[in-house]
Amino acid sequence: MKKAKFVALLAGFTFIFLAIMVQAIIPSLLKETEIKYVTKTIRTPLGELTEVKGDSRPYAGLVEQGRRIYIREGCWYCHSMYVRPVTGEERRWGPVSQVGEYAYDTPHLFGTRRIGPDLSRAGGKYGDDWHRVHFADGRLIVPESIMPKFPWLFENHQGLQGPSAEGQALIAFVQNLGMNRGKWRDDFSSQNLSGGSAALATAASLRHGREVYELRCLGCHGEKGDGQGPAAKFFVKVQPRNFTSGSFKFRTTPSGSLPLDGDLYRTITVGVRGTAMPPWYELPEGDRWDVAQYLKNFAADFKESVPEPPFHIPPAPRATPELLARGKELHKTFQCATCHGEDHRGNGESAASLTDDWGNHVQPADFTSGVFKVGPRPEDIYRTFMTGLNGTPMPSYDSILPTDEDRWALAYFILSLSADRP
Ligand code: HEC
Ligand code: HEC
Ligand code: HEC
Repeated sequence: MKKAKFVALLAGFTFIFLAIMVQAIIPSLLKETEIKYVTKTIRTPLGELTEVKGDSRPYAGLVEQGRRIYIREGCWYCHSMYVRPVTGEERRWGPVSQVGEYAYDTPHLFGTRRIGPDLSRAGGKYGDDWHRVHFADGRLIVPESIMPKFPWLFENHQGLQGPSAEGQALIAFVQNLGMNRGKWRDDFSSQNLSGGSAALATAASLRHGREVYELRCLGCHGEKGDGQGPAAKFFVKVQPRNFTSGSFKFRTTPSGSLPLDGDLYRTITVGVRGTAMPPWYELPEGDRWDVAQYLKNFAADFKESVPEPPFHIPPAPRATPELLARGKELHKTFQCATCHGEDHRGNGESAASLTDDWGNHVQPADFTSGVFKVGPRPEDIYRTFMTGLNGTPMPSYDSILPTDEDRWALAYFILSLSADRP
């Protein structure tokens, strides 16, 4: 008996010692723990994307404060922070995690369970408006969600009168997740799409489209498609689109025309960066096509007319300093700065007075932010000049930008304004 006790005691100490060795001492001796660099995607001074090796950044200010709240609220019970190199995680969340990304993670927040999605690449996936509603009352926009509400992160939960200082810090932390890898999302194949052509609507696909709409879109775009869903009143930046007018911003068709089915499919897939409109690339393709067809029922225009033929957008050439210089000149000639500002931050002299067709103020894009609603590729910017953004003051330059070279020149110039400084 005595001997059994002794063996048990010895075994107990041995295992404690082993655990300390394996989980603390050996890891601290590994060379990898010293690594502080990562590969990151940056925009070059010519406006192109490239991958470089760079240092990962320590947490500071609001982000650091947000991290403490993340730990305090136990977000890590449900969310992991590690994109594994298996089972297509890369396609869902973005590039596989690298050692250097965790250089300043003490304590680390790998998490052991994934009750909710992995969050290591959550930054920039949704706009702040989305996060605000998601933390306050997530089921307004994700009806099936089991994520708890966090009303204490808001000053006035009922009116959602803005997040408290803590709420803002937490959003800042979430928006910073994955940012050590730079502009990887601009190069993320799941969120880049030129758009397919068309899909046929059948009674069954419309029924299915309606189900998808009611589950995923109604919270923002409303039961009648008028942009008055229950979550809509909480957005401060951009209101959900009212679909009843038949006016769509993101198209391949000429100014004033209806969009193609493929245009709706593209917007639904990639989302509208910087706004509450989420990317839906995680939904099955069939869901996205069917809901695109269903949307068209909200506007009579789709029954009364057909979209005009789309522009053909050729593949982008490489950027050169000469092309960029030409772009800069064109930007001056066309006086883009009256709206977009001399410093390109979207605050030109007429910016404050601009409204859209739905009666809301609309801020011209800040080209230095690197966040593009229309998409981050030169093709996306090119498309915007050709089509204009229906319903907003952003005009089409189709007739006055006659050559392809000029269009690419201007597109690269715009992209170069968000170049990363080394
Ligand atoms: C009980 C488990 C649980 C807890 C605790 C929890 N979440 Fe979630 N979270 C989920 C689930 C499930 C989803 C997916 C459904 C949804 O979007 O609401 C989710 C989704 C998210 C998303 C969207 C991710 C994506 O890629 O779509 C973010 C961001 C997020 N949670 C952040 C947080 C933060 C920050 C906290 C702590 C304040 C937290 N969550 C606490 C379960 C949880
Ligand atoms: C959390 C809120 C939210 C949800 C959920 C949401 N949207 Fe949106 N959506 C928006 C906002 C905000 C805009 C306006 C973006 C802008 O005008 O810059 C928008 C715009 C759009 C547009 C207009 C694009 C254009 O060309 O003008 C389409 C199409 C769209 N959403 C489809 C959908 C579909 C389909 C779903 C469901 C699968 C959905 N949205 C779910 C907030 C949302
Ligand atoms: C009359 C004002 C006005 C003028 C002039 C104007 N824009 Fe805009 N532009 C806007 C507004 C407003 C938006 C934002 C629309 C929105 O967010 O829905 C915008 C958006 C854009 C976008 C999309 C940005 C994004 O977030 O994806 C690009 C690109 C752009 N403008 C380029 C230009 C260029 C280049 C010129 C000059 C050739 C120009 N604009 C002239 C008002 C203007």
